[in-house]
Amino acid sequence: MDVVERAVQVLRRDGIIVYPTETVYGLGADASNQAAVGRIYQAKGRPSGHPVIVHLASAESLPQWAARIPDYAYLLAEEYWPGPLTLVLHRAAGVGDHVTGGLPAVGLRCPSHPVAQALLRQFGAGVAAPSANRFGRVSPTSVGHVLEELRDRLVPGLDVVLDGGSCEVGLESTIVDCTGAAPRVLRPGAVTAAQVEATAARAGSVRSGDGEPAAEPPRVPGSLASHYAPRARVYLAEPGQAADLAADLVRSYDRQAGQAGQAQRAQGETVGLIAPVGMATPVGVRRLGAPVDTQAYARMLYAALRRADEEALEVVVAVLPADEGIGHAVRDRLRRAASEDRAASEPH
Ligand code: TXA
Ligand code: MG
Repeated sequence: MDVVERAVQVLRRDGIIVYPTETVYGLGADASNQAAVGRIYQAKGRPSGHPVIVHLASAESLPQWAARIPDYAYLLAEEYWPGPLTLVLHRAAGVGDHVTGGLPAVGLRCPSHPVAQALLRQFGAGVAAPSANRFGRVSPTSVGHVLEELRDRLVPGLDVVLDGGSCEVGLESTIVDCTGAAPRVLRPGAVTAAQVEATAARAGSVRSGDGEPAAEPPRVPGSLASHYAPRARVYLAEPGQAADLAADLVRSYDRQAGQAGQAQRAQGETVGLIAPVGMATPVGVRRLGAPVDTQAYARMLYAALRRADEEALEVVVAVLPADEGIGHAVRDRLRRAASEDRAASEPH
């Protein structure tokens, strides 16, 4: 039996599975099985009552999950599914509170990763799948990341892990609220707001922002400021300032700690740097990534933040990419990672 077949059996036997998508790794359970979905929450350490995204093999099963689907939502699905786009739609009758967190809307996505596609097609029903990280941590973009956090939460012999390599996009899907007269981006991702608007315009939908607001604006716990924060403190910098800022930080740590600082440096650096390829790394700074372009930046960002924590760095200086294309989503996640407002935000 191949691994995908095994995973399908696991889903049918109330188990949970780890599987790759093109955005980040998901932790999946049969979306119609309340107990199995409950196990996902347990494994993540996530409080119940939060909505989860349901993965579908294709847009064909949309009517089983959603009601009053606007034309623009069909067009978005046609254009971007399978792919890194989640549609929040009025839920169909029978869609349980255990996936919507009691909200009147449900989040639906059709992932394009071939392993996810094979799994969803063979399973033939919806799979509830939040990102496969512990509550409050950055999303995993490789199987190694998932196992670091969830190894002891999976039941040997029951649950299964599918390795699909590193995720191609590296950031969570764009979430679009499709419950109002016009689409509204709730979480930026690889599919940009401009792309969403262009597609919606073909449906004759009014421009987003001009439409009537949704009956009840959806709660998006993932949009909380602190949601993607590593332990290390993150400073954001424009390209021209990053190297100097990192070097200054190294000097100030050395001064602060005196001899102790030098000793610490001998074992490992305290300051990390994520900056585009071609930018030099100052002495004493640990280079965490040198992306060749913005897409590569998105792909490596979460791994770099994890490495900062593994190496117990105190601070990470990250260069802000240009605010275009997926750069907008990278900036969004960087701002969250840099947020000081951790205590004030609601848990996820
Ligand atoms: O790329 C992704 O979307 C990944 C992969 C695994 O599919 N999934 C993911 O799931 O990021 P999660 O649970 O970590 O984040 C899902 C976000 C949450 O912020 C949640 O609040 C929002 O989607 N969401 C889900 N259903 C919703 C709903 N009915 N209304 C509003 N927001 C919803
Ligand atoms: Mg998540």
